[in-house]
Amino acid sequence: MSGSSSQYFSRTPAVDSDEREIGLSLADLELRFTTDTGVFSNSRVDAGTRLLLQEAPHPTSEMANVCDLGCGYGPIAVSLAKRSPATAVWAIDLNERAVALTARNGELNACSDIHAVVVDADGNAIDGTAEDIAALADTRFDGLWSNPSIRIGKPAMHRMLTLWLDRLTPTGTAWLVVQRHLGADSLADWMTAQGWATSRVCSRAGYRLLEVKAR
Ligand SMILES: C[S@@+](CC[C@H](N)C(=O)[O-])C[C@H]1O[C@@H](n2cnc3c(N)ncnc32)[C@H](O)[C@@H]1O
Repeated sequence: MSGSSSQYFSRTPAVDSDEREIGLSLADLELRFTTDTGVFSNSRVDAGTRLLLQEAPHPTSEMANVCDLGCGYGPIAVSLAKRSPATAVWAIDLNERAVALTARNGELNACSDIHAVVVDADGNAIDGTAEDIAALADTRFDGLWSNPSIRIGKPAMHRMLTLWLDRLTPTGTAWLVVQRHLGADSLADWMTAQGWATSRVCSRAGYRLLEVKAR
């Protein structure tokens, strides 16, 4: 499935499962992922996700909790967990199939501290381990990395970002990768106007990498 399909952000994908294995090679990491139909970019790691993983800062061991907002099958969450094994990585998504794959891909790549949780559009945890469901509401993130679903539409995107950017710690930072032709610049202006100071880290191959500070 390509990133342009709308099915990947439904809670329960209607399409039958058809798993496959893909790889991700970065300067510092060699990773394997099981992907499936009904999940974003299941045939290869998305170009925007690759840019985020290549250009955004890595998590550090001082970060207690970080978030992969809209984890899909988990390429960002797994990379964060490999790069900072002492950090708890919260991998959240609306899509149950995606969250289950992220949990499996954490195990496949020997990550010990990924908390994969299904959430609803209000940011409530609705599936995951009992401990993670109980803990997520009070968890604040030192960093957040995301390739957000612009295709969910502007109102849903603004709602999602408001919910999760406001779960950053006061010194927390988010890094978002957004396609320029899908409104990266107007999204950056909107976030700055809402009080999350936003700057462009880099621009390449039609993508903007945005740094967003907690408000
Ligand atoms: C563009 S995909 C990126 C997936 C994955 N991070 C990657 O890089 O391959 C965005 C993801 O956000 C999820 N999503 C959409 N709306 C959401 C919301 N309100 N809360 C959490 N996740 C959401 C979608 O289901 C989808 O898996």
